[in-house]
Amino acid sequence: MYTNNELKTVTLNTLRDLKSKGEKIACLTAYDATFANLVDKAGTEIILVGDSLGMVVQGHKTTVPVKIEDMIYHTKIVASSVNYSFLISDMPFMSFYNANVALDNAKRLMQDGGAQMVKLEGNRSQINIIKKLALSDIPICAHIGLRPQSVNKMGGYKVQGKSSNEANALIQEAKKIEDSGADLLLLECVSSQTAKELASEISIPIIGIGAGSEVDGQILVLYDILGISQGQLPKFSKNYMDGNNTIEDAIKQYIQEVKTLKYPTDKHSFK
Ligand code: KIV
Repeated sequence: MYTNNELKTVTLNTLRDLKSKGEKIACLTAYDATFANLVDKAGTEIILVGDSLGMVVQGHKTTVPVKIEDMIYHTKIVASSVNYSFLISDMPFMSFYNANVALDNAKRLMQDGGAQMVKLEGNRSQINIIKKLALSDIPICAHIGLRPQSVNKMGGYKVQGKSSNEANALIQEAKKIEDSGADLLLLECVSSQTAKELASEISIPIIGIGAGSEVDGQILVLYDILGISQGQLPKFSKNYMDGNNTIEDAIKQYIQEVKTLKYPTDKHSFK
């Protein structure tokens, strides 16, 4: 593991390196300077300014109301505290409805917000957008599987890739996305077996959330692991304040469990 004390900062090459060495990548969300500082100092390799801020910070029921201005604001205040981690920012709902709009908003997240990579919830129809961003050397994380921005279209939050048809479609989608120039893949709420098969066909690092242990890294929502999110904790998450007295210790335990394969277990995964 590259530790914060070694004063190296995480880059895309660090993430590729970790993948090739078989060391798991630990990722968390953050939305403000204070928490970002704690997450960064603990040695988390990726900080995501997720549009989950729409729910955990803004109090909305879904991520749909989040605007690009919200993302720029939160990315900027997180970036001010990040010295070690690689900083990814989410492109919110309708901020990438065509390639030109996507390019303009990705530019804003990077130039005004300070993001090092943008994440977009992608499917086949986003291929041309990924290609366009990649041509401008914008690092891209494509988020597939359960796509919370599409909750109203998908009819709820459901585990993806359960049937063999769904699994094949997801794997084909991932291959196309990789070929289009994405640098990272994020898999949300996908059957562990499908995630494993998909991972065997893809060379870019894959970060999972509710996608089992056979991917290259894990991400969780910070407020979930600190037990301060409203409502029930998702099955794939874990409250690391249980047994820890400080936020720092809870974050460190999460990183440690990702690195030593103690998290996620079958209890946090889907069949
Ligand atoms: O918005 C977010 O925080 C995310 C993670 C849950 C992966 O997309």
